[in-house]
Amino acid sequence: MVRKMIRTVATTPFDDQRPGTSGLRKKVSVFQQPHYLENFVQALFDTLPGARGKTLVLGGDGRYYNDRAIQVILKMAAAKGFGKVLVGRDGLLSTPAVSCLIRKYRAFGGIILSASHNPGGPDGDFGIKYNTGNGGPAPEKLTDQVYRNTREITRYLIADVPDVPLGRLGNHALGDMVVSIIDPVADYAGLMESLFDFDRIRDLLEEGVFTLCYDAMHAITGPYAHAILEDRLGAPPGTVINGTPLPDFGGGHPDPNLTYARELVEIMNALSAPDFGAASDGDGDRNMILGKRFFVTPSDSLAILAANAALAPGYREGLKGVARSMPTSRAVDQVAASLGIPCYETPTGWKFFGNLLDAGKITLCGEESFGSGSDHLREKDGLWAVLFWLNIIAHRRLSVEQITREHWQRHGRHFYSRHDYEGMDTHIAMEILADLRDRLPRLKGRRIGDHGVVLSDEFSYTDPVDGSVSEHQGIRIGFEDGARIVFRLSGTGTSAATLRIYLEKYEPDPARHDQDTQAALADLIRIANELSGILARTGRGGPTVIT
Ligand code: G1P
Ligand code: ZN
Repeated sequence: MVRKMIRTVATTPFDDQRPGTSGLRKKVSVFQQPHYLENFVQALFDTLPGARGKTLVLGGDGRYYNDRAIQVILKMAAAKGFGKVLVGRDGLLSTPAVSCLIRKYRAFGGIILSASHNPGGPDGDFGIKYNTGNGGPAPEKLTDQVYRNTREITRYLIADVPDVPLGRLGNHALGDMVVSIIDPVADYAGLMESLFDFDRIRDLLEEGVFTLCYDAMHAITGPYAHAILEDRLGAPPGTVINGTPLPDFGGGHPDPNLTYARELVEIMNALSAPDFGAASDGDGDRNMILGKRFFVTPSDSLAILAANAALAPGYREGLKGVARSMPTSRAVDQVAASLGIPCYETPTGWKFFGNLLDAGKITLCGEESFGSGSDHLREKDGLWAVLFWLNIIAHRRLSVEQITREHWQRHGRHFYSRHDYEGMDTHIAMEILADLRDRLPRLKGRRIGDHGVVLSDEFSYTDPVDGSVSEHQGIRIGFEDGARIVFRLSGTGTSAATLRIYLEKYEPDPARHDQDTQAALADLIRIANELSGILARTGRGGPTVIT
């Protein structure tokens, strides 16, 4: 790069740039402050020695500010000395597609612009996360260093070059750097085709007896779902709803759960419901699976994928192992035990699966928060889960409900629910956890109602691959019948605090599998409320969101 094209801009630190569970997330207005985005990107680039001449992948979920941020990052990438940046057309790339591209093209890393399922628009949220050369989220060691850099930054470097036309496929020179605008879908779709039995799924869809509805929630998976489900697999046009990414996601909350994916839930609850329903979140890494008037919990979905994996060509060789985040139900543990493969328990957040996947210890992994994935990438992958289910149905020719009920019959049912208290005063939320933490040593061995406490601790994880230790990963209270309550605070919010309470109860007896989930968990819900004292402390009689 001609030196005079690179401008050094003096700046001062912001004190709120610590990356959370999944990158740096803030209100759009925070990101729009002068130098805010630039500071963070420079702090990131300063942790990346050896990037000169290498390839970076860049794209986002299309939310408000995506296009502006991409132009800034391109100019800073040119100043940093990257050789090439692969950008999805119109600046669009889903999180799993970024992971796919990094791996396929052996890129140095990738930047994803997204605040996942958080609402978008000028008053919504924006976010930026970095993935390393394995295609997965940056490890804490790196994000901690980025944060330290943001505290000390005095300057950033940016190239004085014109904006790149993000809508035009092909190569564009930006100084010495090449910006390659690519089709955001093609490489990802190719990968999916290599993992699943597209012919069988096509047969299923073309016979016309099986119908499906996919809700892209006005977010990034629209173009992917149109191309894969409708164009390649032959589902009729109209199968994908809300399939055009909008900067404000149509004013919605692009989180695929029973509360926010209301349109899909209504369609699936109707008398004339399709056989299969699914939705993805803002950046395309989450999924929700529904049958006709039937909801599959993400924890069950992971277990069912594991149990049926051999039906998919990409997993025919069998699974090396599985992993789930600690608060996720232990349904997959049962499958692992029956398959005789290891099952790992990690803290919340996808980044903890990376080492296990890289070391070849696991093939499938997932979280209760509507995320599942495998060693095909280093991110969770919404459409992948949908295609996996379609592959299973195409082989077994059973409904979603039949597949799930059969699974429970064989492995028992894990009644499971998460209660979120959103928008809590941060101080009160921290106090609730601190109090619970103090009481942990006294809880063990005690009885609460009919339930004897056999476990009360704060989850700490030692990574079996690199030995790194992550502490304070959630408070666990376990009972003698295998039931469990977990408390933790969200690490992805942008304002106030969210307390999450995870409830799980194991029921081996098929005669008792028909209960309503909240009714089956009523005891545990009461105990959780008593232990945390939420009502007394906040006046709240119930959670904001139940999943
Ligand atoms: C939430 C989910 C977690 C997921 C993360 C990113 O994090 O609980 O499982 O990995 O979003 O999608 P939290 O807000 O709980 O920290
Ligand atoms: Zn997401």
